[in-house]
This record gives sequence, C-alpha cells and structure tokens, in this order.
Amino acid sequence: MAGNPQQMNKKREQRYSYGLSLLRECMEKKPGPLPASGDQALLKAEKISLSFGKLQALSQVDVDIREGEILAIIGPNGAGKTSLLNVISGFYRAQEGEVFFQGKRITGLRSNRIAELGMCRTFQNIALYNGLTVIDNIIAGRHPYIRYNFLAGMIYFPWAHREEARQRAIAEDIIDFLELEHVRGAVVGTLAYGLRKRVELGRALALEPRVLLLDEPMAGMNLDEKEDMARFIIDINEFLNIPVVLIEHDMGVVMDIADRIVVLDFGYKIAEGIPERIKKDPRVIAAYLGEG
Ligand SMILES: Nc1ncnc2c1ncn2[C@@H]1O[C@H](COP(=O)(O)OP(=O)(O)O)[C@@H](O)[C@H]1O
Ligand SMILES: [Mg+2]
Repeated sequence: MAGNPQQMNKKREQRYSYGLSLLRECMEKKPGPLPASGDQALLKAEKISLSFGKLQALSQVDVDIREGEILAIIGPNGAGKTSLLNVISGFYRAQEGEVFFQGKRITGLRSNRIAELGMCRTFQNIALYNGLTVIDNIIAGRHPYIRYNFLAGMIYFPWAHREEARQRAIAEDIIDFLELEHVRGAVVGTLAYGLRKRVELGRALALEPRVLLLDEPMAGMNLDEKEDMARFIIDINEFLNIPVVLIEHDMGVVMDIADRIVVLDFGYKIAEGIPERIKKDPRVIAAYLGEG
C-alpha cells in the first residue's frame, strides 16, 4: 500500500494500544466459538445452486470461511458474488445446497436469525438510517445489547442512564477507530459516499460480529478512500480476530489484503487459492480479459 509507511505504522501502533478496547471487552465476555467439528471452517456453504427463472445465478458453488482469515470473493459483474452472500446470510433461499455456521446447519434460516448468530454484513447499496447522525446510526447497531426497554429509558432509571452512557462509549470507540470523529454529529444522508460506507462498517462492527461479510466496501471510492478502507478491514481482522469475507470487483485491491481468494464467473467457482496463485491462473485472467 502507498503512503508513508513509517507514519502509518505509528498510527497503527496507537490504534493497537487503545483501539476498540471497549468493544473487545464486550466480545471477550461472550461464549467462545463452538468446538471445531473436524475442520477449521467457521462458515461453510456446500453445493449452492440458485436460479432466477431461467437465469442460473449460482451453480454448485462450495465455499468455506476459516477462522482468522480475510477471504475475498471476486469476479466480473453479474458473476454471482452478491447472490452468494445473500444465500449465506439468509436473504436469498437457494434451490440446492446447505450452509453451516459454527458447526450448525443454518440453511433456510431467516436473515435476522442468522444476524443474531453473529453473521453481520454490509450492502452493495448502503443501508443506513439517512436521517440520523453518524453516532446514532452506530448506536443503532448496538440494539441487541441494549438491556433496558424503551419505557424504562423514558422513566429514566439511573441504571438505564448508565447503560445508555456505556453504549454511547462503545459507539464512540468505534468512531475513533474508523476515524469518523469529525463527522460524528453529521446527518448520514449529507455525507459523501466514502464516509457513508465507513459508517456502515461501523454499524456492522457495533453488532459484535463473529464474521463480517462486506459487499464491495470500496466500490465508488477514490484511491485514498480505498486505502483507508483496506486498512480498517485489516485492523478489524487483526485486532478483533474477526474473519472477513470481502466481495470486490477490482482484483488489484484484494490481492494486497486477502489471505485467500475465491473466483466466480457466470455462477461457477472457477478458481480458489492464495493471491499469488490466483493472479497467474489462466481461467481467472481469461474471465477478466473477456469482460466488457
Ligand atoms: N433478485 C434477483 N432477481 C433476478 N435476477 C437476479 C437477482 N439478483 C441477482 N440476479 C442476477 O443474478 C446474476 C448474478 O448477480 P449478482 O449476484 O448480483 O452478481 P455480482 O454481485 O457478482 O455482480 C446476474 O445476472 C443478476 O442479474
Ligand atoms: Mg454484486
């Protein structure tokens, strides 16, 4: 990645020392991962086939997501990347195939149930509360953890007040981490695209995910914004040990940060492996050259 490496290391060191300590504390209190069932896959999709009428969006696609990794799913437009993410996270129901998460079969579960299990995602088209501020959008991501009910909050029990302060502190922690301090009070709808993408990442993080699914988090960004986003994704993966699935149309961007890459083309998985191998794979090169 470009930029002054020394400066960047310093910044990262600072982030290591205080970054997300409150969130990390919350996540460490949660029950740990289920014992591994023979293999290391946290998430496994097997033989997924999905069609829309005559259009075959996915054909017998296998993919697994392992502990600690950044997995990129790449491929030309219309290859089926978003569809695969939608099947995994319960937004689409595949005609064939099974999905397992933390050793448990989740095929056919509704998206909100799957989210409660700790699978959190962002969308290709940003989904935020546009009329709310940045901080309120991130606090909204804390909803599963807010213990007091609305009425109690209104009557203003002291403990409800304390709880709100705690949730606000966690949200502030995320805002610092994603370098959103300068827009904390801004209404989301007024922000530039790249910043809104960052807020959406913040909200997903607020949910204390076991795995993060990001659908083109860098699309439509300029180079600086892409580099920032790449750094945030790497740091989230490292600091919080959250596996990340990253959909990206641009092959160059993911080569730097992905541990493993899955390549889709016309609904088929045409390659899988470490970046060096994918870069040289003739089928991958052909899929990209053949585009547009
Ligand atoms: N809800 C839908 N209804 C009909 N066709 C769809 C729907 N979602 C995706 N498709 C089609 O499925 C194919 C794969 O789309 P998508 O998964 O969005 O690709 P990608 O994210 O790789 O660009 C495309 O041909 C697209 O038009
Ligand atoms: Mg897509």
